[in-house]
Amino acid sequence: MSEFAKLSLPNGKEINLNIKKATIGQDVIDISPLFKETGMFTFDPGFLSTASCESKITYIDGDKGILNHGGYSIEDLAKKAEYLEVAYLLLNRDLPNFEQYQKFCQNIKNNMLVHEQISILFRGFPRKAHPMAIMVGAVASLSAFYHESMDVASPQGRMDVVYKIIAKMPTLAAMAYKYSIGEPIIYPQDNLGFAENFLHMLFAKPTSSHKVSSTLARAMEMIFVLHADHEQNASTSTVRLAGSSGANPFACIGAGISSLWGPAHGGANEEVIEMLQEINSFERIPEFIKRAKDKNDPFRLMGFGHRVYKNYDPRASVLKKACDEVLGELGIKDPLLDIAIELEKIALNDDYFVSRKLFPNVDFYSGIIYKALGIPTNLFTVIFAIARSAGWISQWKEMIEDPAFKIGRPRQLYTGENKRDFVEIKNR
Ligand code: CMC
Repeated sequence: MSEFAKLSLPNGKEINLNIKKATIGQDVIDISPLFKETGMFTFDPGFLSTASCESKITYIDGDKGILNHGGYSIEDLAKKAEYLEVAYLLLNRDLPNFEQYQKFCQNIKNNMLVHEQISILFRGFPRKAHPMAIMVGAVASLSAFYHESMDVASPQGRMDVVYKIIAKMPTLAAMAYKYSIGEPIIYPQDNLGFAENFLHMLFAKPTSSHKVSSTLARAMEMIFVLHADHEQNASTSTVRLAGSSGANPFACIGAGISSLWGPAHGGANEEVIEMLQEINSFERIPEFIKRAKDKNDPFRLMGFGHRVYKNYDPRASVLKKACDEVLGELGIKDPLLDIAIELEKIALNDDYFVSRKLFPNVDFYSGIIYKALGIPTNLFTVIFAIARSAGWISQWKEMIEDPAFKIGRPRQLYTGENKRDFVEIKNR
């Protein structure tokens, strides 16, 4: 039986709004008929209480610190699954069997090369350009290569876009890195795993053979899994909104990368390392905690807090444990890890952070592992982007395939001037 929420307006009018049921988590009040029935909009800047779509891909319980993809916990996936298995899960809402997985991986491998013309595009960028700036341009530029040939109206055509996005992101990211250090581009290899291939393209040189260590490949695979999707965050919503007009999906992913780059979103992993380096010693931690609490200081504790998690981000728990394991396996002792652990301890005992339910998020510990893997700081967010491409394109595909899908078009509360007459410039 349907349930309704009753809304009473100041003019005495009452309307019933349908309550849509979630499988788990929050049900929603369907306000779509509100404007037609009342002439009023709802107001929710930052989408604090608004579900922008219906989705079956990812579930988060922010109060309990739970993240599941297709019902599988992130802890299980991080421990047991490969990134491409998770990408398949996001796209198909089910894990692949052996044959399905082989076929999926082969389709990705077949698409890892990028058009040679793209390397010419790279030469237009300054060598010291931030790799995220290059990624925004390079990924969006794929739309110039695959526009006429693309057929997003057919299931096969959509999968063709999916393979190209997931496959080409690591190649473009490694090209951006090699370009920035002035080394020749290394092509992807058919016989390597997804994360292994990326590390190979980053660190191999044409002059010598290069074997990616299994510890590094495993750690990178796990990092890709942890970042693969996170339901309707800023960058994913950007991809959906851009795609809702029917825009070229490669250009939409470029828009998603732009949104991810911000320090409040994926750009935080780079900022965390810079913050820890600036703190540099246990003695200076209280000074930074004080600054984070000071409302007149724009400084925030980077890698702390989350719109949805009001408990420990489950991805941060996995990464914190992985820091110990990866650094231990590689025989690395990083003083930044000690500072991060101490900073977390102090913050989690401070009333400011406790009362606001601010906990470490995915970006707090990831940078320490990247550092151990030899990844330069300005590539941290690029790695987030590679991983998130599976989520972005799955969410784009889900939207395109939803029969109820409409162009995204929020409304506004106008508080500007009322109508007035134009004044000639000489009279102003
Ligand atoms: N340091 C200090 N104070 C904070 C922090 C922080 N990192 N995060 C939130 N607060 C305070 C904030 O000032 C506010 O205080 P008050 O209620 O007194 O005004 C309260 O906590 C609620 O914060 P908010 O800004 O209203 O929360 P939000 O949901 O709009 O923002 C956030 C979420 C992630 C943007 C924010 O916590 C933040 O800026 N964190 C630091 C950047 C960061 O680590 N970003 C990575 C997010 S996780 C990776 C991803 O998925 O992108």
